[in-house]
Amino acid sequence: MYELKSLDKKFPGVHALKAIDFHIKRGEIVGLVGENGAGKSTLMKVIYGAYQPDGGQILINGDAVRFANPRQAMEKGIGMVFQEQSLIPNLTVMENIFLGYEQQFVRLGVINWKEMAKAAKAQLAKVKLDIDPSTVTSKLSFAQRQLVELAKVLTLEERVDGDLVILLDEPTSVLSKDEVELLFKLVRELVTRASFIFVSHRMDEVMELSDRIYVMKDGQVVDVVERGGGGADANRSSTRWSGGTSTSNIIGSSFKSPTIPRESSSKCPASTCQAARRISRSGFTPVRSCASSEPKARAVKRSCAQSTACSAPPADA
Ligand SMILES: Nc1ncnc2c1ncn2[C@@H]1O[C@H](COP(=O)(O)OP(=O)(O)OP(=O)(O)O)[C@@H](O)[C@H]1O
Ligand SMILES: [Mg+2]
Repeated sequence: MYELKSLDKKFPGVHALKAIDFHIKRGEIVGLVGENGAGKSTLMKVIYGAYQPDGGQILINGDAVRFANPRQAMEKGIGMVFQEQSLIPNLTVMENIFLGYEQQFVRLGVINWKEMAKAAKAQLAKVKLDIDPSTVTSKLSFAQRQLVELAKVLTLEERVDGDLVILLDEPTSVLSKDEVELLFKLVRELVTRASFIFVSHRMDEVMELSDRIYVMKDGQVVDVVERGGGGADANRSSTRWSGGTSTSNIIGSSFKSPTIPRESSSKCPASTCQAARRISRSGFTPVRSCASSEPKARAVKRSCAQSTACSAPPADA
């Protein structure tokens, strides 16, 4: 289990993370949502070792750890698929996958490219990407490059003894609907190999994929909700989840307030309303809420009620 306790991070003039408590267990998919500037990427970068926290603790299986850089985090099984992709465009796919770890393919002072290609092919198979590993990376589509990044992260499986935690920072932002579905299918399959932390602005996506959702606002976790029945389970892919609590508990909570998609303005966007309906059917259970964000939740409720795009939840909700 990976845990953050009371984690703090400050930038000059910005208290980006305030006493964050967070955990993820083996085989879980945990969603992280919040408005722009809420602190999601900062949290991911602290987990990944790119930023060092100013306070609090990081625990892996109960042991306190501290990462001076991402390489140290990777040695503990933490891998990140970046919002801004990190592959080098003019390198081949296999060179990117094993960048910094070429030594394993060096024989008598030269790289054995055939061996690297074979190993790259095995990594690409993990993400079901059937491409020639000697393809120059810039020739791939965005979605393909993202899968290559994921394959690169999955090389940690062979290098690290413990469990993997893979961070996906807004992986769906420029993907088509079909590409998103493919990615989600893959992530659901990969939970046997790794846990995932998934950041998105799109509430419906986070609800579709996650076992537990942390809602952030102004550097704080303001809500934590869990899928009814709790934890990773066989019903993860179901759109109508079992278990759960009463609609009023969920709709009335602050849960949806920080989860308005980017395109939202003073009006309630259809996607927010759809998300609200789906919450009402989903069986998500708020496990913690923050009173300070309730006025905003009420405001969202009012604007939803005024919007023609948002009718009352269906009778079966
Ligand atoms: N390197 C940095 N130096 C100074 N301030 C920073 C730095 N990185 C982030 N911040 C600030 O910290 C806060 C949290 O930013 P962060 O990027 O983590 O938010 P986010 O939730 O990922 O937002 P978005 O949804 O827009 O990606 C913001 O106020 C941001 O301006
Ligand atoms: Mg971000």
